[in-house]
Amino acid sequence: MNYKQAVNIYDLRKIAKRKLPKIAFDFLENGAEDEICYGNNENIYKEYKLLPKYLIDITKRNQKTLLFNKLYSSPFGFAPTGTAGLFKRGAEKMLAEISNKENIPYIMSGAANESIETISEISSKNTWYQIYATLDREIIYDQIDRADKAGFEALVVTVDVPIRTKREKNIRNGFSNSQRMKPSIFLEALTHPGWIYEYIKNGGPPTMGSWTKYVGPNANVNKTVDLFVKNVPATNQTWDDIVKYRKRWKKKLIIKGILNPDDVKKCIDCEADGVILSNHGGRQLDKAPSPIQVLANISDCYRDKIEIMVDGGIRRGSDIIIALCLGAKFVFIGRAPLYGAAAGGLEGIKRTCDILKEEIDQNMGQIGCTDLDQLSKQWLHKNN
Ligand SMILES: Cc1cc2nc3c(=O)[nH]c(=O)nc-3n(C[C@H](O)[C@H](O)[C@H](O)COP(=O)(O)O)c2cc1C
Repeated sequence: MNYKQAVNIYDLRKIAKRKLPKIAFDFLENGAEDEICYGNNENIYKEYKLLPKYLIDITKRNQKTLLFNKLYSSPFGFAPTGTAGLFKRGAEKMLAEISNKENIPYIMSGAANESIETISEISSKNTWYQIYATLDREIIYDQIDRADKAGFEALVVTVDVPIRTKREKNIRNGFSNSQRMKPSIFLEALTHPGWIYEYIKNGGPPTMGSWTKYVGPNANVNKTVDLFVKNVPATNQTWDDIVKYRKRWKKKLIIKGILNPDDVKKCIDCEADGVILSNHGGRQLDKAPSPIQVLANISDCYRDKIEIMVDGGIRRGSDIIIALCLGAKFVFIGRAPLYGAAAGGLEGIKRTCDILKEEIDQNMGQIGCTDLDQLSKQWLHKNN
Protein backbone atom coordinates (compact mmCIF):
# COMPACT_ATOMS: atom_id res chain seq x y z
CA MET A 1 0.00 0.00 0.00
CA ASN A 2 1.24 3.52 -0.78
CA TYR A 3 -0.12 6.88 0.42
CA LYS A 4 -2.41 7.21 -2.63
CA GLN A 5 -4.16 3.97 -1.63
CA ALA A 6 -4.59 5.06 1.99
CA VAL A 7 -8.30 5.06 2.75
CA ASN A 8 -8.00 6.58 6.21
CA ILE A 9 -5.51 8.08 8.65
CA TYR A 10 -4.79 4.65 10.15
CA ASP A 11 -3.58 3.47 6.72
CA LEU A 12 -1.18 6.43 6.59
CA ARG A 13 0.04 5.47 10.05
CA LYS A 14 0.73 1.89 8.84
CA ILE A 15 2.75 3.19 5.89
CA ALA A 16 4.66 5.61 8.14
CA LYS A 17 5.49 2.75 10.49
CA ARG A 18 6.81 0.68 7.59
CA LYS A 19 8.90 3.48 6.14
CA LEU A 20 10.43 4.89 9.31
CA PRO A 21 13.15 3.30 11.45
CA LYS A 22 11.77 2.13 14.78
CA ILE A 23 13.60 4.92 16.55
CA ALA A 24 11.89 7.61 14.48
CA PHE A 25 8.43 6.03 14.46
CA ASP A 26 8.55 5.51 18.22
CA PHE A 27 9.59 9.14 18.69
CA LEU A 28 6.64 10.24 16.57
CA GLU A 29 4.12 8.00 18.31
CA ASN A 30 5.45 8.06 21.89
CA GLY A 31 3.27 9.02 24.82
CA ALA A 32 4.58 9.53 28.36
CA GLU A 33 4.93 6.68 30.90
CA ASP A 34 2.12 4.09 30.42
CA GLU A 35 0.68 5.94 27.40
CA ILE A 36 -2.75 6.02 29.11
CA CYS A 37 -3.29 9.62 28.08
CA TYR A 38 -2.17 8.93 24.53
CA GLY A 39 -4.61 6.01 24.21
CA ASN A 40 -7.43 7.88 25.92
CA ASN A 41 -7.13 10.78 23.47
CA GLU A 42 -8.04 8.49 20.57
CA ASN A 43 -10.46 6.20 22.39
CA ILE A 44 -12.59 8.90 24.00
CA TYR A 45 -13.96 9.90 20.61
CA LYS A 46 -15.33 6.37 20.14
CA GLU A 47 -17.56 6.87 23.19
CA TYR A 48 -19.53 9.68 21.57
CA LYS A 49 -22.46 9.06 19.23
CA LEU A 50 -23.83 11.53 16.72
CA LEU A 51 -27.61 11.78 16.61
CA PRO A 52 -28.65 12.20 12.95
CA LYS A 53 -31.47 14.37 11.66
CA TYR A 54 -32.97 13.17 8.38
CA LEU A 55 -35.22 14.63 5.66
CA ILE A 56 -33.14 17.78 5.45
CA ASP A 57 -31.85 19.13 2.13
CA ILE A 58 -28.13 18.50 2.53
CA THR A 59 -27.22 19.06 -1.14
CA LYS A 60 -24.98 22.00 -0.25
CA ARG A 61 -22.60 21.49 2.68
CA ASN A 62 -20.17 24.09 3.95
CA GLN A 63 -17.17 23.26 6.13
CA LYS A 64 -15.52 26.67 5.82
CA THR A 65 -14.80 28.04 9.29
CA LEU A 66 -14.30 31.58 10.54
CA LEU A 67 -11.54 31.90 13.12
CA PHE A 68 -10.07 35.21 14.28
CA ASN A 69 -12.02 36.93 11.47
CA LYS A 70 -10.39 34.78 8.82
CA LEU A 71 -12.26 32.22 6.74
CA TYR A 72 -10.44 28.89 6.55
CA SER A 73 -11.46 26.11 4.14
CA SER A 74 -11.88 23.55 6.91
CA PRO A 75 -12.16 23.53 10.72
CA PHE A 76 -8.71 21.98 11.25
CA GLY A 77 -5.08 23.05 11.07
CA PHE A 78 -1.62 21.56 11.68
CA ALA A 79 -0.51 21.49 15.34
CA PRO A 80 3.13 22.35 16.07
CA THR A 81 5.38 19.30 15.87
CA GLY A 82 9.08 19.65 16.59
CA THR A 83 11.77 17.92 14.52
CA ALA A 84 9.30 16.93 11.80
CA GLY A 85 12.30 16.69 9.46
CA LEU A 86 13.18 13.45 11.19
CA PHE A 87 10.10 11.82 9.65
CA LYS A 88 10.54 13.38 6.21
CA ARG A 89 13.31 15.79 5.23
CA GLY A 90 11.83 19.21 4.63
CA ALA A 91 8.51 18.19 6.26
CA GLU A 92 8.02 21.65 7.78
CA LYS A 93 8.35 23.33 4.39
CA MET A 94 5.79 20.86 3.07
CA LEU A 95 3.38 21.58 5.93
CA ALA A 96 3.68 25.31 5.21
CA GLU A 97 3.09 24.76 1.50
CA ILE A 98 0.02 22.58 2.01
CA SER A 99 -1.45 24.93 4.63
CA ASN A 100 -1.13 27.71 2.08
CA LYS A 101 -2.70 25.69 -0.74
CA GLU A 102 -5.44 24.18 1.41
CA ASN A 103 -6.12 27.45 3.23
CA ILE A 104 -5.76 26.05 6.74
CA PRO A 105 -3.48 27.26 9.57
CA TYR A 106 -0.05 25.77 10.24
CA ILE A 107 1.56 26.27 13.64
CA MET A 108 5.31 26.12 13.10
CA SER A 109 7.04 24.54 16.11
CA GLY A 110 9.67 26.40 18.10
CA ALA A 111 11.61 23.13 17.94
CA ALA A 112 11.37 22.87 14.16
CA ASN A 113 14.23 21.81 11.94
CA GLU A 114 13.69 24.72 9.56
CA SER A 115 14.15 28.36 10.53
CA ILE A 116 11.43 30.97 10.91
CA GLU A 117 12.83 32.81 7.89
CA THR A 118 12.90 29.70 5.65
CA ILE A 119 9.27 28.90 6.42
CA SER A 120 8.19 32.50 5.86
CA GLU A 121 9.69 32.37 2.36
CA ILE A 122 7.29 29.53 1.57
CA SER A 123 4.32 31.08 3.31
CA SER A 124 3.65 33.36 6.23
CA LYS A 125 -0.01 33.42 5.21
CA ASN A 126 -1.81 31.01 7.54
CA THR A 127 1.40 30.44 9.53
CA TRP A 128 1.52 30.83 13.29
CA TYR A 129 4.66 30.49 15.43
CA GLN A 130 4.82 28.37 18.58
CA ILE A 131 7.26 29.11 21.39
CA TYR A 132 8.62 27.27 24.36
CA ALA A 133 9.92 29.69 27.00
CA THR A 134 13.72 29.70 27.28
CA LEU A 135 15.73 30.02 30.51
CA ASP A 136 17.62 32.80 28.77
CA ARG A 137 14.53 34.90 27.98
CA GLU A 138 16.43 37.02 25.45
CA ILE A 139 16.34 34.05 23.05
CA ILE A 140 12.58 33.74 23.12
CA TYR A 141 12.05 37.49 22.86
CA ASP A 142 14.26 37.47 19.79
CA GLN A 143 12.27 34.58 18.26
CA ILE A 144 9.02 36.44 18.91
CA ASP A 145 10.41 39.49 17.10
CA ARG A 146 11.67 37.32 14.22
CA ALA A 147 8.25 35.68 13.83
CA ASP A 148 6.65 39.11 13.78
CA LYS A 149 9.10 40.41 11.17
CA ALA A 150 8.56 37.27 9.10
CA GLY A 151 4.85 38.08 8.92
CA PHE A 152 3.50 35.17 10.98
CA GLU A 153 -0.12 35.74 11.93
CA ALA A 154 -0.30 34.44 15.49
CA LEU A 155 1.92 33.46 18.41
CA VAL A 156 1.22 30.21 20.25
CA VAL A 157 2.74 29.76 23.71
CA THR A 158 2.96 26.13 24.77
CA VAL A 159 2.67 25.82 28.54
CA ASP A 160 2.28 22.08 29.13
CA VAL A 161 6.01 21.33 29.08
CA PRO A 162 7.05 22.76 32.48
CA ILE A 163 9.47 19.84 32.81
CA ARG A 164 10.73 16.94 30.69
CA THR A 165 8.78 13.71 31.13
CA LYS A 166 9.44 9.99 30.75
CA ARG A 167 8.79 8.86 27.22
CA GLU A 168 9.72 5.28 27.80
CA LYS A 169 10.00 4.12 24.20
CA ASN A 170 12.65 6.78 23.62
CA ILE A 171 14.52 5.69 26.74
CA ARG A 172 14.43 2.02 25.72
CA ASN A 173 15.62 2.94 22.24
CA GLY A 174 18.48 4.87 23.81
CA PHE A 175 17.19 7.91 22.05
CA SER A 176 16.23 10.63 24.46
CA ASN A 177 17.91 13.26 22.35
CA SER A 178 16.28 13.04 18.94
CA GLN A 179 19.27 14.39 17.06
CA ARG A 180 21.89 11.84 18.11
CA MET A 181 21.93 8.23 16.99
CA LYS A 182 23.72 5.29 18.62
CA PRO A 183 25.33 2.69 16.31
CA SER A 184 22.71 0.03 17.19
CA ILE A 185 19.94 2.42 16.27
CA PHE A 186 21.70 3.27 13.07
CA LEU A 187 21.83 -0.45 12.16
CA GLU A 188 18.07 -0.87 12.55
CA ALA A 189 17.61 2.26 10.46
CA LEU A 190 19.56 0.58 7.65
CA THR A 191 16.56 -1.71 7.13
CA HIS A 192 14.59 1.37 5.99
CA PRO A 193 16.60 2.31 2.88
CA GLY A 194 14.48 5.26 1.74
CA TRP A 195 14.85 6.99 5.09
CA ILE A 196 18.54 6.18 5.48
CA TYR A 197 19.24 7.42 1.95
CA GLU A 198 17.71 10.79 2.85
CA TYR A 199 19.63 10.82 6.14
CA ILE A 200 23.01 10.24 4.51
CA LYS A 201 22.29 12.49 1.50
CA ASN A 202 21.56 15.37 3.89
CA GLY A 203 24.71 14.79 5.94
CA GLY A 204 23.11 13.34 9.10
CA PRO A 205 20.40 14.57 11.46
CA PRO A 206 18.52 17.79 10.76
CA THR A 207 19.41 20.85 12.84
CA MET A 208 17.06 23.29 14.62
CA GLY A 209 16.92 26.11 12.14
CA SER A 210 15.60 28.91 14.35
CA TRP A 211 18.25 28.22 17.00
CA THR A 212 21.57 28.18 15.09
CA LYS A 213 21.75 31.98 15.29
CA TYR A 214 22.19 31.84 19.08
CA VAL A 215 25.06 29.34 18.91
CA GLY A 216 27.33 31.51 16.82
CA PRO A 217 29.38 31.12 13.66
CA ASN A 218 30.51 27.52 14.34
CA ALA A 219 26.99 26.23 14.97
CA ASN A 220 26.55 22.54 14.19
CA VAL A 221 23.68 20.19 14.95
CA ASN A 222 25.02 18.99 18.31
CA LYS A 223 25.86 22.46 19.63
CA THR A 224 22.48 23.76 18.52
CA VAL A 225 20.57 20.92 20.17
CA ASP A 226 22.65 21.35 23.34
CA LEU A 227 21.68 25.01 23.53
CA PHE A 228 18.00 24.10 23.07
CA VAL A 229 18.16 21.39 25.76
CA LYS A 230 19.93 23.81 28.14
CA ASN A 231 17.16 26.39 27.70
CA VAL A 232 13.98 24.35 27.34
CA PRO A 233 11.93 23.61 29.36
CA ALA A 234 12.15 26.88 31.27
CA THR A 235 10.92 25.67 34.65
CA ASN A 236 10.55 29.26 35.85
CA GLN A 237 7.93 30.38 33.31
CA THR A 238 4.85 31.93 34.98
CA TRP A 239 1.79 34.02 34.14
CA ASP A 240 4.02 37.11 34.37
CA ASP A 241 5.78 35.85 31.25
CA ILE A 242 2.46 35.59 29.41
CA VAL A 243 1.83 39.25 30.27
CA LYS A 244 5.26 40.12 28.82
CA TYR A 245 4.62 38.15 25.62
CA ARG A 246 1.26 39.93 25.33
CA LYS A 247 2.95 43.33 25.51
CA ARG A 248 5.56 42.35 22.93
CA TRP A 249 3.29 40.53 20.41
CA LYS A 250 0.52 42.71 19.04
CA LYS A 251 -1.19 40.09 16.84
CA LYS A 252 -3.23 37.09 17.99
CA LEU A 253 -1.87 35.38 21.11
CA ILE A 254 -2.88 31.80 21.84
CA ILE A 255 -2.03 29.66 24.87
CA LYS A 256 -1.63 25.94 24.13
CA GLY A 257 -1.73 23.07 26.59
CA ILE A 258 -4.47 24.31 28.91
CA LEU A 259 -6.86 21.83 30.59
CA ASN A 260 -7.92 23.55 33.81
CA PRO A 261 -10.88 26.00 33.67
CA ASP A 262 -9.09 28.28 36.17
CA ASP A 263 -6.20 28.59 33.72
CA VAL A 264 -8.60 29.55 30.93
CA LYS A 265 -9.82 32.37 33.16
CA LYS A 266 -6.19 33.47 33.66
CA CYS A 267 -5.61 33.43 29.88
CA ILE A 268 -8.57 35.78 29.53
CA ASP A 269 -7.15 38.01 32.29
CA CYS A 270 -3.84 38.12 30.38
CA GLU A 271 -5.74 39.23 27.26
CA ALA A 272 -4.91 36.16 25.22
CA ASP A 273 -7.08 35.74 22.12
CA GLY A 274 -7.38 31.97 22.20
CA VAL A 275 -6.60 28.73 24.01
CA ILE A 276 -5.80 25.32 22.59
CA LEU A 277 -7.03 22.73 25.08
CA SER A 278 -4.40 20.03 24.81
CA ASN A 279 -2.38 17.44 26.70
CA HIS A 280 0.42 17.52 24.14
CA GLY A 281 -0.88 14.39 22.45
CA GLY A 282 -0.34 12.40 25.66
CA ARG A 283 3.39 13.16 25.62
CA GLN A 284 3.61 15.03 28.94
CA LEU A 285 1.29 14.25 31.91
CA ASP A 286 0.18 10.65 31.48
CA LYS A 287 -2.68 10.97 33.99
CA ALA A 288 -4.08 14.10 32.35
CA PRO A 289 -7.65 14.06 31.03
CA SER A 290 -8.32 14.22 27.32
CA PRO A 291 -9.07 17.79 26.20
CA ILE A 292 -12.44 16.49 24.98
CA GLN A 293 -13.33 15.60 28.59
CA VAL A 294 -12.90 19.20 29.78
CA LEU A 295 -14.08 20.94 26.61
CA ALA A 296 -17.85 21.24 27.13
CA ASN A 297 -17.53 22.79 30.59
CA ILE A 298 -14.84 25.25 29.50
CA SER A 299 -16.73 26.17 26.35
CA ASP A 300 -19.98 26.76 28.27
CA CYS A 301 -18.18 29.10 30.67
CA TYR A 302 -15.81 31.00 28.40
CA ARG A 303 -16.57 30.72 24.68
CA ASP A 304 -17.90 34.30 24.52
CA LYS A 305 -14.65 35.65 25.97
CA ILE A 306 -11.93 33.66 24.19
CA GLU A 307 -11.62 31.37 21.15
CA ILE A 308 -11.55 27.75 22.29
CA MET A 309 -9.64 25.25 20.19
CA VAL A 310 -8.68 21.67 20.89
CA ASP A 311 -6.24 18.95 19.81
CA GLY A 312 -5.34 15.36 20.64
CA GLY A 313 -6.36 12.00 19.21
CA ILE A 314 -8.14 13.29 16.12
CA ARG A 315 -8.03 10.62 13.43
CA ARG A 316 -11.47 10.93 11.80
CA GLY A 317 -13.64 13.66 10.35
CA SER A 318 -16.32 12.54 12.77
CA ASP A 319 -13.91 13.22 15.67
CA ILE A 320 -13.71 16.81 14.47
CA ILE A 321 -17.49 17.08 14.30
CA ILE A 322 -17.78 15.74 17.87
CA ALA A 323 -15.24 18.34 19.10
CA LEU A 324 -17.23 21.10 17.43
CA CYS A 325 -20.47 19.77 18.96
CA LEU A 326 -18.83 19.95 22.39
CA GLY A 327 -17.99 23.62 21.85
CA ALA A 328 -14.60 23.82 20.10
CA LYS A 329 -14.30 26.52 17.47
CA PHE A 330 -11.44 24.82 15.67
CA VAL A 331 -9.21 21.74 16.02
CA PHE A 332 -5.58 20.89 15.36
CA ILE A 333 -3.98 17.65 14.22
CA GLY A 334 -0.46 16.65 15.26
CA ARG A 335 0.43 13.10 14.31
CA ALA A 336 -1.97 12.72 11.34
CA PRO A 337 -0.07 15.07 8.98
CA LEU A 338 3.23 13.55 10.16
CA TYR A 339 1.97 10.10 9.14
CA GLY A 340 1.13 11.67 5.77
CA ALA A 341 4.58 13.29 5.51
CA ALA A 342 6.39 10.05 6.33
CA ALA A 343 4.14 8.06 3.97
CA GLY A 344 4.27 10.34 0.94
CA GLY A 345 5.96 13.71 1.59
CA LEU A 346 4.06 16.71 0.26
CA GLU A 347 1.40 14.59 -1.42
CA GLY A 348 1.07 12.44 1.69
CA ILE A 349 0.26 15.52 3.78
CA LYS A 350 -2.28 16.54 1.16
CA ARG A 351 -3.78 13.03 1.40
CA THR A 352 -4.20 13.55 5.18
CA CYS A 353 -6.18 16.73 4.48
CA ASP A 354 -8.26 15.16 1.70
CA ILE A 355 -9.22 12.20 3.88
CA LEU A 356 -10.34 14.40 6.78
CA LYS A 357 -12.15 16.91 4.57
CA GLU A 358 -14.07 14.15 2.84
CA GLU A 359 -14.97 12.47 6.13
CA ILE A 360 -16.19 15.78 7.58
CA ASP A 361 -18.31 16.34 4.49
CA GLN A 362 -19.81 12.84 4.50
CA ASN A 363 -20.59 12.97 8.22
CA MET A 364 -22.22 16.38 7.82
CA GLY A 365 -24.46 14.95 5.11
CA GLN A 366 -25.20 11.88 7.17
CA ILE A 367 -26.31 13.80 10.27
CA GLY A 368 -28.23 16.50 8.38
CA CYS A 369 -25.84 19.39 8.97
CA THR A 370 -25.25 21.86 6.12
CA ASP A 371 -22.98 24.30 7.95
CA LEU A 372 -20.61 23.60 10.83
CA ASP A 373 -21.98 26.66 12.64
CA GLN A 374 -25.14 24.64 13.30
CA LEU A 375 -23.35 22.07 15.47
CA SER A 376 -24.03 21.96 19.20
CA LYS A 377 -24.43 19.38 21.97
CA GLN A 378 -27.92 18.68 20.58
CA TRP A 379 -26.29 16.63 17.82
CA LEU A 380 -24.83 14.26 20.37
CA HIS A 381 -26.78 11.27 21.63
CA LYS A 382 -27.99 11.89 25.17
CA ASN A 383 -26.21 8.89 26.70
CA ASN A 384 -22.80 10.42 25.94
C1 LIG B 1 6.31 14.30 17.06
C2 LIG B 1 5.58 15.35 17.82
C3 LIG B 1 6.24 16.53 18.12
C4 LIG B 1 5.56 17.55 18.83
N1 LIG B 1 6.20 18.73 19.06
C5 LIG B 1 5.52 19.75 19.63
C6 LIG B 1 6.11 21.04 19.73
O1 LIG B 1 7.23 21.26 19.29
N2 LIG B 1 5.38 22.02 20.32
C7 LIG B 1 4.10 21.81 20.79
O2 LIG B 1 3.48 22.73 21.32
N3 LIG B 1 3.52 20.59 20.69
C8 LIG B 1 4.19 19.58 20.11
N4 LIG B 1 3.58 18.36 19.95
C9 LIG B 1 2.18 18.21 20.39
C10 LIG B 1 1.22 18.59 19.26
O3 LIG B 1 1.28 19.97 18.98
C11 LIG B 1 -0.23 18.25 19.58
O4 LIG B 1 -0.58 18.83 20.80
C12 LIG B 1 -0.51 16.75 19.61
O5 LIG B 1 0.29 16.07 18.67
C13 LIG B 1 -1.98 16.50 19.32
O6 LIG B 1 -2.28 15.14 19.38
P1 LIG B 1 -2.37 14.17 18.09
O7 LIG B 1 -0.95 13.92 17.68
O8 LIG B 1 -3.02 12.98 18.63
O9 LIG B 1 -3.14 14.90 17.03
C14 LIG B 1 4.24 17.34 19.26
C15 LIG B 1 3.60 16.13 18.97
C16 LIG B 1 4.25 15.15 18.26
C17 LIG B 1 3.52 13.88 17.94
